[in-house]
Amino acid sequence: MTDIRVLTDEAQYRAHSTLFRRAMHWGPPTDEQWAVVLPSYEPGRVHAAFDGDEMVGTTQSYAGSMVVPGGAVVPHSAVSRVGVRADYTRRGVLTALMREQLSTLPDPVATLRASEGRIYGRFGYGLAGRVRYLQIDATKAVIPGSPTGRVRMVDPDTADKLLPELHDAFALDRPGQISRWAGWWARARDRKTEAENMVTIVHSGPDGDDGYLCYKVSEVKDFKHKMEIVDFVSSNADAWRDLWIYATRLDLVDTIEVDVALDDPLNWLFEDPRVVHTKEVFDEIWLRLADVPRMLAARTYGTAEPVVLEVQDALLPANSGAYRISPDGAERVDAAADITIPVDLLGAAYFGDTSFSQLAAAKRITGGRFDAADALFASPVAPRCSTFF
Ligand SMILES: CC(C)(COP(=O)(O)OP(=O)(O)OC[C@H]1O[C@@H](n2cnc3c(N)ncnc32)[C@H](O)[C@@H]1OP(=O)(O)O)[C@@H](O)C(=O)NCCC(=O)NCCS
Repeated sequence: MTDIRVLTDEAQYRAHSTLFRRAMHWGPPTDEQWAVVLPSYEPGRVHAAFDGDEMVGTTQSYAGSMVVPGGAVVPHSAVSRVGVRADYTRRGVLTALMREQLSTLPDPVATLRASEGRIYGRFGYGLAGRVRYLQIDATKAVIPGSPTGRVRMVDPDTADKLLPELHDAFALDRPGQISRWAGWWARARDRKTEAENMVTIVHSGPDGDDGYLCYKVSEVKDFKHKMEIVDFVSSNADAWRDLWIYATRLDLVDTIEVDVALDDPLNWLFEDPRVVHTKEVFDEIWLRLADVPRMLAARTYGTAEPVVLEVQDALLPANSGAYRISPDGAERVDAAADITIPVDLLGAAYFGDTSFSQLAAAKRITGGRFDAADALFASPVAPRCSTFF
């Protein structure tokens, strides 16, 4: 019999971390690693499954906020450290953890990154946002013109202070972007140690600091280097362009690797758009609408005749029911549905990254008037979550 408990003290948190890491085939945290990880354990948000006194499964979440289409910001749980001890898998331990976590979730929406695509749909998470992984040939990456602002390299202490401020001010700029929590920044600080060799560049324009870039460079062979862009924030097109000028003109770097939104205009920055190679498009945001009425009301909609959605949610039945979506918003109604959709697929469609027509073509949803639903849910901006957790 699996018993789900909320953990409360550091010894339990460390056991939780060890169990999760073991499930991912990593060793237990060293004392040094633990000092970095501990701040990410937020009281009240750490769940574990027990068989008697033995911990056999883990999950947790971090508190923050997330941008929805139209620009509103809603409270958000970033779900992470999901693992079940290998000798207890496929006996319903994760199911019990997910049920408890979702039924007590303090926020109207949760997102996570999935290690495998088949795990989370059954718990109502849908694949809502994808990301493009690029390799740029820095030896041929010519950006015409000169920078308009200034860039400066900052030391780790300055970065510790400045980056959270700049991230809070500028990074919540598109659907799917989330705020960062203290434990996330503790891990980022750790990356600026000598071992990881992280460099931070801050950009300033006419109104002061307005963007930054964090990167690591590693040697591939004899004076040939690869740059990995780890964090990139810019509040305007000039800052974005100037930071890319800096990155592509850095001496001894041949290749730049970066993750960007599907609609990122980077190809158009260079004289030769072929210097940008899309190596992979992969799933990034798995989204769970925990409070469907609130989340449907939070976003804005495009222009089309109203559509009634019949939402099905077996795990959180209060969400099940009919919702009328129109350019003016969303409301619960007692009306016949145009489209019947399970909550995981509503999550997949929420940012507009997946259309209702696509889901209908794949025979995942039933009904009609899919074009109208597509127009209502379409977003002019692709989703992105540049905060990995
Ligand atoms: C993924 C994991 C947490 C699943 O835990 P679990 O306790 O075995 O899951 P459950 O027994 O509750 O499974 C519920 C259902 O999901 C299915 N399922 C679970 N994990 C699955 C997987 N990796 N692939 C396919 N199906 C899976 C089960 O077969 C079961 O289906 P059923 O109800 O039709 O029989 C566990 O296998 C694990 O720790 N894996 C390694 C670490 C990891 O990948 N963690 C996720 C990080 S995002």
